[in-house]
Amino acid sequence: MIVTTTELFKQAYGKYAVGAYNINNLEQVIGLFRGNLGKSKSNDEPEDASKAAPFIIQISRGARDYTDKRFLESMIRTAEQVFPEAIFAVHLDHGTEEVCYDCIDSGFYSSVMIDASHCPFEENIATTRRVVDRAHEKGIVVEAELGQLGGVEEDIVGSVKLTDPDQAAEFIEKSGCDSLAVAIGTSHGAFKFSGKQGLHFDCLEKIQAAVPANFPLVMHGSSSVPKEWVDRINNAGGAMKNASGVNEDEYNKAAKMGVCKINIDTDGRLVWCATHREFFRDHPEQFDLRPAGKLFMANYADYIVHKNTMLGSNGQLEAVREVLGK
Ligand code: G3H
Ligand code: 13P
Ligand code: ZN
Repeated sequence: MIVTTTELFKQAYGKYAVGAYNINNLEQVIGLFRGNLGKSKSNDEPEDASKAAPFIIQISRGARDYTDKRFLESMIRTAEQVFPEAIFAVHLDHGTEEVCYDCIDSGFYSSVMIDASHCPFEENIATTRRVVDRAHEKGIVVEAELGQLGGVEEDIVGSVKLTDPDQAAEFIEKSGCDSLAVAIGTSHGAFKFSGKQGLHFDCLEKIQAAVPANFPLVMHGSSSVPKEWVDRINNAGGAMKNASGVNEDEYNKAAKMGVCKINIDTDGRLVWCATHREFFRDHPEQFDLRPAGKLFMANYADYIVHKNTMLGSNGQLEAVREVLGK
């Protein structure tokens, strides 16, 4: 069942973060649904309520262009039927104004992100306000971004600019956004830190104090880039030197400080890459895509269970269902 992110955030606030996972293909969709329902091997496996979690499916502009955006909607609608117990939001990740309107008008997305974070402050407010007005008319909620992460955001290469707490309060008031992505030290991709850096909790603390009570904050660039998966890629012919990510032990602390949504894309790509590299290394005679695909779906589902455990969303699905009366 598709719900808005606001409905999920109300229950998560201050307790846990909801995982927001990017998808591009069918195997990712299936692995994601299975993992969030505590299944790994097959659709028929019983749901494990102690592991089941509410979640957010994110679709980037890159994903919409990978084949044809209509495939994504069909896959997710089908997954909704195959996994009727799931409760999730469908979210546009890093939208432009034009793509936000397309998603709002489509009637499929329950939330959109307008990313005008690279624009001057006043322009970011004005752009976000226009999207908010149009989205709210249709009951769709809006994530905006203030500050700049490092790394590559869609087609924009950013230099880091941490979110200013006072600006955050003004931005939320004037733009009317429903949640705010903040820059507190993370960056997109597999190479986040050159040394032992971590999140800027001092900055997050000030942001939480400055914004309205219980206002949901979002953390992009939050993959943990697990050493295990990077090593597996490298041992199977990959070349990912000095890859590093967010310390998973920091998710919980961030959640307690108002971060309700934690974005994970890179980790899923690592699981995909390691699984396929190892499979074809170990089975050089193989050329069938399905055995590797099946293994990936199981590995990804297991990874989602692990990630949700670190986010604290594991085991929260039934509580969410009860409150939503669904
Ligand atoms: O923030 C960026 C996301 O990881 C999406 O990446 O544009 O390559 O799909 P993508
Ligand atoms: P990662 O690259 O850390 O997975 O971040 C994903 C993200 O922020 C998507 O918007
Ligand atoms: Zn992002």
